[in-house]
Amino acid sequence: MKKKKTISKSPGWGTKSVWAGENGDSWWGAAQVPVVHSVAFGYADVDHWERAALGKSPGHIYSRNTNPTVGAFEEKVRQLEGAEAATSFSTGMAAISNTLFTLLSPGDRLVSIKDSYGGTNKLFLEFLPRFAIEVDLCDTTDHIFLERSIARGCRVLYLETPTNPTLKVVDIGRLSKAAHAVGAIVVVDNTFATPLNQNPLALGVDLVLHSATKFLGGHADALGGVLCGRADLVKQIYHHREITGAALDPMAAYLLLRGMKTLHLRIQQQSASALEIASFLERHPKVEAVFYPGLKSHSGHAIARKQMRGFGGVLSFMLKGGFPAVKKVLPRLQLAHRAANLGAVETIAGPPATTSHVECTPAERAAMGIPEGLIRYSVGIEDTMDLIDDLKDALKYLPHRG
Ligand SMILES: Cc1ncc(COP(=O)(O)O)c(C=O)c1O
Repeated sequence: MKKKKTISKSPGWGTKSVWAGENGDSWWGAAQVPVVHSVAFGYADVDHWERAALGKSPGHIYSRNTNPTVGAFEEKVRQLEGAEAATSFSTGMAAISNTLFTLLSPGDRLVSIKDSYGGTNKLFLEFLPRFAIEVDLCDTTDHIFLERSIARGCRVLYLETPTNPTLKVVDIGRLSKAAHAVGAIVVVDNTFATPLNQNPLALGVDLVLHSATKFLGGHADALGGVLCGRADLVKQIYHHREITGAALDPMAAYLLLRGMKTLHLRIQQQSASALEIASFLERHPKVEAVFYPGLKSHSGHAIARKQMRGFGGVLSFMLKGGFPAVKKVLPRLQLAHRAANLGAVETIAGPPATTSHVECTPAERAAMGIPEGLIRYSVGIEDTMDLIDDLKDALKYLPHRG
């Protein structure tokens, strides 16, 4: 677990993406953070060993607890999110489940939204109730309803914004205020926005987490999760993770660190491209609806403008003709992996039934308001016009409808 060091001045996003966390340990002059695969760290002096084990002096003991390469990754995210402390996990789901199982006890109540990521939704509906935790999933865009539910009292308010896959937006500042009024802890999944586009901690939340597998790593070659925020809470959740064991692998930490050096360039390009592509699709006669918070037509556009610097690299759209139309269009795309992932340098497209909500039944997806005719489109760093031409060509295979 990494704790705050004083930053004398505030560097820009590019500088932080490249340099943050890179010079925390002694790397024998290596210009890149080395991958320290060692499981354990030896000490000739027992007093020194004991001090390190008790956290009274710097040093690592065992890589399920802490590891130098993993620590460098945690430090980079901590600085980008402007957090007091950060800790990491083997996957995004490990970050989410360790956070929830640390903060919640039998008899507690959690308030969240209907549109959270499919795996998170499974935790809410299948796992937490088994531990006698009450879960209230509210209509994502109904802030008055959410505030009423929060006012009934809760231990945790859990938010995700923009949501996966319908890109709904919730007002982080407004709901955090309501949650803090009843003494709740506020957690935000910031995977879609990334720290470049949105900093939930600055908007008042207590904890922010990411599936680092997505935009942070950016190259679809490493799984990881990360959590940062209030040091007292991060310490408790770190303790849960060190005992339950979902530690980030040093090799994955290295790949994530390397990917994050270009985070600012990727996110700028992907956000700009996504806005152009969403605007193109919105005008296309074979497209029923487009969901992207950067569009003026998006119901959460005003909130997004207030709390985001850019609108992110993911959009989704509904084709006229439903799921049969999706099955026609997807195979025609030349510049997209058809895969259950997002946030990579390559464009990735797929329907919720095989991606974000693969764990859910069609009935569960319908209850969450996720149309079967939806395509989630994660924009890569290819040239924007090439992606638009690719979509244009694929859409030609659909019949004209009145
Ligand atoms: C918003 C969001 N949160 C969490 C996760 C889970 O992340 P992981 O696959 O790294 O466990 C995902 C995965 O798609 C996601 O989209």
